[in-house]
Amino acid sequence: MELQGVAALVTGGAHRVGKAIVMALAEAGCDLVLHYNRSVDAAEATAEQARALGREVRLVGADLADPYLSDEIIAGAGDLAPVRVLINSAGVFLEDTLGGVDVDTWNQSMAVNLRAPVFLTQAFANALPDGISGSVVNVSDWRTARPYPDHFSYSVAKGGLDSFTVAAAVALAPDVRVNAVALGAILPPPGKDSAYLKQLAQEIPLERVGGTEPVSQAVLFLLRNHFMTGEIIRLDGGAHLR
Ligand SMILES: NC(=O)c1ccc[n+]([C@@H]2O[C@H](COP(=O)([O-])OP(=O)(O)OC[C@H]3O[C@@H](n4cnc5c(N)ncnc54)[C@H](OP(=O)(O)O)[C@@H]3O)[C@@H](O)[C@H]2O)c1
Repeated sequence: MELQGVAALVTGGAHRVGKAIVMALAEAGCDLVLHYNRSVDAAEATAEQARALGREVRLVGADLADPYLSDEIIAGAGDLAPVRVLINSAGVFLEDTLGGVDVDTWNQSMAVNLRAPVFLTQAFANALPDGISGSVVNVSDWRTARPYPDHFSYSVAKGGLDSFTVAAAVALAPDVRVNAVALGAILPPPGKDSAYLKQLAQEIPLERVGGTEPVSQAVLFLLRNHFMTGEIIRLDGGAHLR
């Protein structure tokens, strides 16, 4: 897909990984629909940075735990429609175990990490005009293959996101391609210090955390490569090899 002038929706685009994807798309020539939930100030600041590159940006605030907002979020593109790129980056990394998880935690994890990408993808595909192609990239986690015991519902939801990526690639072909990036240690959780980073790096064959640049590069690659669908690219510094 040629990205110049294409409208792209990024969920959770205000900061961190989502922001990096927003800025990479802006640099590639996309106009942006920047979704946020709580981080309104960061969303406005990111939008200003993308506008400074000459891009149009529309902001859409929505809680993805609400299952009925997908059409509204896509419609937030307004005059930028049709949205031809959807990046499902928003997520929640809740702590729980199989032994201790309660229904509210499970529901929140499933709602944001899995249900929202499913119904946003549905709304996105339904809103594409006939004959116009689209591309979706889901932001997953390599640990679906070796689930975190202390992030049980998160791991199961992201595993569902991987399955959804493949199912949607089949269901939406040939008009819409659906791929995913499966992230490893890209950014440390907010508030963690350098000792945490050092510890994290020791567990990774490449001995470092990735930063957001590899994610942006992979997302652009998946969007531009017209013969890839149903692929899940690991960006984990080789962590899965250990
Ligand atoms: N960081 C990593 O190293 C890493 C590793 C593996 C996978 N990932 C995945 O990469 C993605 C981005 O990671 P990150 O570390 O940048 O995330 P993060 O800092 O935890 O931020 C979470 C993002 O999701 C949005 N979000 C959370 N709950 C939401 C809700 N109920 N409704 C709408 N939006 C909601 C937040 O929006 P607001 O701030 O506006 O509320 C925020 O933009 C996630 O899917 C995560 O699972 C990240």
